[in-house]
Amino acid sequence: MSKFVIHGGNKLVGEIEVKGSKNACLPIMCATVLAEGEYILKNVPNLRDVDTMSRLLERLGMKVERQENNVYKIINKGLTSVEAPYDLVSEMRASFTIMGPLLASQKKAKVAMPGGCKLGTRAVDQHLKGFVALGAKIETKSGSVEADAEGLVGSKIKFDFCSVGATENIMMAAVLASGETVMENSAKEPEVVDLGNFLISMGAKIEGLGTDKITIQGVDKLKACEYGVMSDRIETGTYIIMSLITEGDIKIKNSNLDDLPGFVLELKKMGVSFVQDGGFLTVSGDLDKLKNTKIATMPHPGFPTDLQPQIMVLLSLIGGASEIEETIFSNRFMLVPELNRMGSSISVEGRKATIQGGVKFQGTEVIAPDLRAGVSLVLAGLVADNTTVVNDVYHIERGYEDLVGRLQGVGADIKNID
Ligand code: EPU
Repeated sequence: MSKFVIHGGNKLVGEIEVKGSKNACLPIMCATVLAEGEYILKNVPNLRDVDTMSRLLERLGMKVERQENNVYKIINKGLTSVEAPYDLVSEMRASFTIMGPLLASQKKAKVAMPGGCKLGTRAVDQHLKGFVALGAKIETKSGSVEADAEGLVGSKIKFDFCSVGATENIMMAAVLASGETVMENSAKEPEVVDLGNFLISMGAKIEGLGTDKITIQGVDKLKACEYGVMSDRIETGTYIIMSLITEGDIKIKNSNLDDLPGFVLELKKMGVSFVQDGGFLTVSGDLDKLKNTKIATMPHPGFPTDLQPQIMVLLSLIGGASEIEETIFSNRFMLVPELNRMGSSISVEGRKATIQGGVKFQGTEVIAPDLRAGVSLVLAGLVADNTTVVNDVYHIERGYEDLVGRLQGVGADIKNID
């Protein structure tokens, strides 16, 4: 198994490019099930999760060709299966988002139930509620959801709370349903908007993207298209924090701060300033002067849960006590025990973490518990004394393309050891 070995303390200088968004790309790949034809997707990150999604599409009878420069060609000549099996869904929960496109285009689907994950129980009740409202008959049998619909019919759906995946799944089902679907309490995340724009490029009629009420007029047929995936806002946020903690001079390319309003607001309150010059973003903030803070993760446009572990590293380094409340996932403080082994002083009570700042990290051997916590341990390693070894980095490879190569490109002393 691979591990990253990091010698901390290097000043990081130079350009780093943000790749395409994992969480926009995965549902967009699912949406290619909706119409036969040849799709060209640009700005697709080369990631383990994208490989898993490619394998799922291939199991359904499609062809996925990875070309140069983050371009993927996906060929849909008609499906040979409507089943997303457990081995793929358990490897990547985002596979469940294939259900909407399968139901809409094939009128049936069999998708393994994802079960819980390290971040929490992660139910799919809101997805199923939406499918039932569109007229699908749903049965849960032997760990799989089997759904049938002789033709979906537009409906009004009010989600009990915001769910990115449920909004995406139902949106993809509703684009081919007859009549109008209105989804209330929809997720407003930029990745949902990017998926919506992709569907519009395929010929779908969707209004209200980026608001909590999305209205869809079903169409009879969609067509394949060419599309450029949005840049990854979580990667952007990760590099912003990396630049601040290393007090380096990093120029972040291909970022879009408009996608990170809650994150930018919190950092500005702490005293961070942002400069966008041409295609490059730079950030500055003296660690001795940044102010401690209280943050609560929230659905968009609030502070994103996917940047919560990374900001914990920054808050550990600045003076005073800070607090983080995690409101999205029931178990997203898995970073804490590992980071405390590196010298941070964080205590957790329920969904709140209290961080006593002003620490100096010490390098040691740690385990990446998941994707975002894993990258946060790399961040801590970049500024730790001595050597940090991060194990189980396959989690990090799910969401950051060639992280080691890109960090080496800005002067980090990091190696991937197999
Ligand atoms: N939830 C339910 N029932 C449902 C759906 C969700 O109880 O039917 C709960 C979940 O358990 C969770 C909360 O609602 O506590 C929010 O879940 P949501 O459905 O919004 O999340 P998701 O679609 O499963 C996506 C991202 C996550 C990101 C969340 C929140 C993808 C592939 N994943 O997950 O990304 O944290 O939205 O923004 O888009 C990551 O990239 O590291 C990651 C975990």
